[in-house]
This record gives sequence, structure tokens and C-alpha cells, in this order.
Amino acid sequence: MTSSARRVPIEPQAVDAPLSGTAVFLVLTVRDAAGAFDTVRSTLAGVADVLKNVAFRDLDAALSCTVGIGARVWGELTRGPAPKELHVFPAVVGDRHIAPSTPGDVLLHIRAARRDLCFEFERQLLDLLGDAVEVVDETVGFRYFDVRDLLGFVDGTANPVGQNLPDATLVGDEDPAFAGGSYVVVQKYTHPLDRWRALTTEQQEAIIGRTKADNIELDDAETGQKSHKTLSTVVVDGAEHDILRDNMPFGSPAGGEFGTYFIGYARRLWVIERMLQRMFIGDPPGLHDRLLDFSTARTGSVFFAPSAAFLEAMDDDPAPSGPADPASAVVPASPPEPADGSLGLGSLQTAPERT
Ligand code: HEM
Repeated sequence: MTSSARRVPIEPQAVDAPLSGTAVFLVLTVRDAAGAFDTVRSTLAGVADVLKNVAFRDLDAALSCTVGIGARVWGELTRGPAPKELHVFPAVVGDRHIAPSTPGDVLLHIRAARRDLCFEFERQLLDLLGDAVEVVDETVGFRYFDVRDLLGFVDGTANPVGQNLPDATLVGDEDPAFAGGSYVVVQKYTHPLDRWRALTTEQQEAIIGRTKADNIELDDAETGQKSHKTLSTVVVDGAEHDILRDNMPFGSPAGGEFGTYFIGYARRLWVIERMLQRMFIGDPPGLHDRLLDFSTARTGSVFFAPSAAFLEAMDDDPAPSGPADPASAVVPASPPEPADGSLGLGSLQTAPERT
């Protein structure tokens, strides 16, 4: 069946959109200007229409966009209380490496098989947003061979599939007003590729925890620093907690820039934060993820991607009960105590709120 003969399969806010050949990660802040919040609110509420405009021109390219909203602006944008765990990204400070917390009010995660569709959608959306927003970061990612990162490893294999995918990514009865939405964490990493290439393949494989050529999982190390695969596995009371990653390489050989844009979707924000603590602080503390010796985190922000219905209704007339208390937008996460007691939250530093 040709593309034009099909119905529009475009679903806004589809966290589980197919792996795409290209993506744009756009992080914006809302300007402190008259009418800025109204413009952003109405544009985000209408994002599904813009998506349809562009996606329909090549349905096979499967254009999708997920909108995430940050804690700082949640109250004013949505005029309601925030999801339970939503807060500003807490910087994670290890002995050797830091995951910084950087500004971000709105995230647009745009995916498609074709770069031109991503470009056109982004252009139309930014036209609508106008000077109500400031672009903090625009990263264009590309698919690299068989879903490899620029370190040469297949990236994304352990993502949940089947029913485990919505179970791991979509909020449920634990926060009914936000059911169907998802927490999103983004971090932009750069790699000193020359130093990474100086390692032997065996050394690289021990750091990642998988073989490079055929992507086979290696056994966990009994002693010393654990692999990335092991440190990013979160098990509490015998249950493993998954997240969905759609990392993308980005960069410029001529500019000497080589990077991985990390994006993780989760039903529970504390799961991603626990992964970051295990990577940056280490397990046991001090034995950090050696992937970080070759990957520097440049940015770090948290968003909540509400369901499509929530997003669309955002521009409806506010409920007569009156505006929500914006202070309710910052709610501390409350993960369960670590099972092994080794990683407390004491090392997390919540970034000060910007004004
Ligand atoms: C420079 C950044 C990163 C790179 C290049 C990278 C690369 C990889 C690779 C190659 C794998 C093994 C294959 C796979 O299952 O996908 C992996 C696994 C994984 N990574 Fe990362 N990663 C990065 C950052 C992160 C961060 C920041 C997190 C979480 C906060 C994370 C979470 C995970 C998880 C959950 C797994 C699967 C573990 C398992 O259950 O086997 N990664 N990563």
C-alpha cells in the first residue's frame, strides 16, 4: 500500500514512537515577557495539528514529537498541580565526575525517518512560539549503522518490549491525574574519541559490559569497577526497574565534536536518578562508571511528557477553582531506600531554582 493511501498513523505524545533515522532534541526556556506563557501554552496544546500538517506529507517517515514540560514552568503553563515526582534535575556529584543540572522548561523530542520532516516541523513550531521562548540547546542526532553509538557499541538493546514498555514508561494509578504521561531525562554527553580508541576492544567491552561486534552480554565483574550495563541496572526488592532509552549520536568530525544525546523515559523518575547515582557516585561509592572517563555530561534536565489528551486540554479555559500554587511544581522525589543501603540521596544536589 502506498503511503498516501494509508490513514494518518500519527499519534502525538507517543513515547514509544519507532526508532528513527534522525531526531532533533530541542530544549527551550520560556521568556519572562508579557504573554509568553499564553503563547507557549496555546502552541503546545496545538502541537498535534502542526504534527499532522508535516507528517501527512510522507507517512512512511513516521514523524513524531513528544513534548515535555519542566518543573519551573509547570504551574504557570498548565495552571494545575504537578506530577508527584516532577522537580528540577538534581546535579549528581561524584568524586571524579559530575552530572550538571542545566536550564530547560520545554523539551521537544522530534523523530522521523527523514531529516527534512524533522526540520520542517521544528521550523513551523518555532515560528508559532516566536520570541516567547529562548532556544537553550538544539541537537540533531542521527542513526549510526546498526543502532550504534559513536563509541562503536550497539545502544538500546536492553530496552523493554511488549507490555513491559508501557509498564516501565507510563504513569498509572499511582498518580491518576497524570496517567499516560512519562518522566523524561535528557543529558548531552561528549566523547574524547581519540582516548577511547586508544583502549583495546577488550577494555572497551569491559567498560560497557557487552561485546562490541556481536553485542553479547558479558558476566558481571566480581570485583572492582562494575560495567555500565551493571551500574545502570536498578533492582529494588528483587524487582528490576526498566526505562526506555532512545539515545542518538551527534557531532561534527570537522569540528572535532563527538557525542551521545541521552534520553530516558520512565514511569518513575527516581529510577533514572538511581541509575545516575550508581554511574556517577559508584556502587560501592567511589567506583564510578568508567564510561564517564570517556563521556562528559554537558547538560541535564528533567521534564514530564503528559498524555496527548492532557496536552490538548491545556489551553482550555481554566477550572473555576482558581489558579494552582506554582510552588507545588517542585515536589521532591521519594524513591524507596536503597536495598543495599550503599547509595543514599545525600550526594544529590538539587539545583537552585532559576528566577
Ligand atoms: C554517554 C552516554 C551513554 C552511552 C554511550 C551509553 C551506552 C550504552 C550501551 C552501549 C549499553 C549496552 C546496550 C544496551 O542495552 O543498550 C547501555 C545500556 C544501558 N544504559 Fe547506557 N549509555 C549512556 C548513558 C546512560 C545513562 C545516563 C543512563 C541512565 C541514566 C543509561 C542507562 C542504561 C541502561 C538502563 C542500560 C541497560 C542495562 C541493562 O539492563 O542491560 N545509559 N548504555
